[in-house]
Amino acid sequence: MNTLVIVGSQWGDEGKGKVTDYLAQKADVVVRSQGGNNAGHTILFHQQKYALRSIPSGIFNPKIKNIMANGMVIQPKQMLEELHGLEARGIREYQLFISNRAHIVLPYHEALDGAYEQFKKDKKIGTTKRGIGPAYADKANRIGIRVADFIEPNVFKDVLQQTLEIKNMELKMLGLDTFDFDSIYEEYSAYAREMKKYVCDTSLLLEEEIQKNSKILFEGAQGVMLCLDHGTYPYVTSSSPTGASVPVNSGIAPRYIQDVLGICKAYTTRVGEGPFPTEIEGELANEIRERGHEYGTVTKRPRRVGYLDCVVLNHARRVAGINHLALMLFDVLTGIDLIKICYAYELDGKRISYVPASEYEYSKVKPVYIEMPGWKEDISLVRSFEELPTNAKKYIQKIEELTHIKISLFSVGPDREQTILLEELL
Ligand code: GDP
Ligand code: IMO
Ligand code: MG
Repeated sequence: MNTLVIVGSQWGDEGKGKVTDYLAQKADVVVRSQGGNNAGHTILFHQQKYALRSIPSGIFNPKIKNIMANGMVIQPKQMLEELHGLEARGIREYQLFISNRAHIVLPYHEALDGAYEQFKKDKKIGTTKRGIGPAYADKANRIGIRVADFIEPNVFKDVLQQTLEIKNMELKMLGLDTFDFDSIYEEYSAYAREMKKYVCDTSLLLEEEIQKNSKILFEGAQGVMLCLDHGTYPYVTSSSPTGASVPVNSGIAPRYIQDVLGICKAYTTRVGEGPFPTEIEGELANEIRERGHEYGTVTKRPRRVGYLDCVVLNHARRVAGINHLALMLFDVLTGIDLIKICYAYELDGKRISYVPASEYEYSKVKPVYIEMPGWKEDISLVRSFEELPTNAKKYIQKIEELTHIKISLFSVGPDREQTILLEELL
């Protein structure tokens, strides 16, 4: 198989961007198939740091075809700004293809996202306020605007007129400012003209690449615990970041997906609200937050921090089809005397090893931990498994034992060079 799906196995920000960039050195195609600019994927090489939002992480290599597939929701203004930002930093030779079936995020989606959050008060999700939920809701409600329509001036005019009428009614009902058709149309038509050269049927392109035996990386956004179906609903995003979602979100047959690499922090973080059983607070949490620079790429919010949760990882293995694991930010654990790993929960006095569907129950579970002695040695210069301190090796082996997944890669720093591949993945 020449395809590999990269999936966040926790609550996002596990290092998917770093791994995609690293593996892209061998890839012909990199595909983003879901989410939008709620994602923030950090990449560091040659002393240069990039934070990508909706552009695939293969953009730095001129030989790679970068696809933004049909399952994405794309904010044209932000996407073009991101592209211009890359160009200003010298990334000018790239191949980018945008699906004509992807959906467009417009300013009314962003306004509604913010408004729903406000109305939910203490039940707010803590979204990125990028309009992701409202854009996917419009898609499901069949009042979304697709790229194919967006780039045809007369068609865009028609569909925007019709949609804006409905959206302005909704905004008015909520007591919010409405949007003026002419100003959106004028501003966004200019973006559409610029975007048009990248637009094609990316499903056809992918079929060609599959037939040529090209190496294809699918770069997931978010993480399994933020999945609309299998995450901690309603504290989730509005798309599915699992291996199973890739075929529908990119227009390929499921038989082309076999290998799914779960990206996993050596501990756990979460941005936004919702249950988080292994969450910790206080000195250790602050230490990990500072050492791991755990502040959101998109919203700059401090990330919530906790111990590694193998119940979550087993859930992710099952629902996302993960058969390889990449252990990230391993260096951040250096210096912690006793490291805990959660391997089960207690719910109302009973031991369970699954993620309960109900938020009410999941908020009540208590993590059951094993404790592992830590290590003091700096591991950021380690380049092989053998060089790791004994207790770090044991930590890896324990995770493999508790998750039933082989760790195929580990990472000891944000730089591309600080990646140790333990088996070929693509
Ligand atoms: P993504 O959304 O999954 O791509 O992850 P983010 O880029 O949002 O967050 C991961 C953060 O960890 C970024 O700041 C990366 O530069 C950083 N990072 C990735 N791998 C490592 C690592 O092994 N060690 C350290 N210290 N930082 C890392
Ligand atoms: P990457 O790809 C971490 C979270 C938000 C919020 C919830 C819903 O960088 O891992 P949304 O704006 O999607 O409606 O927000 O999902 N969230 C992420 N958290 N990493 C992400 O992406 C995320 N994308 C969305 O914080 O809790
Ligand atoms: Mg991120």
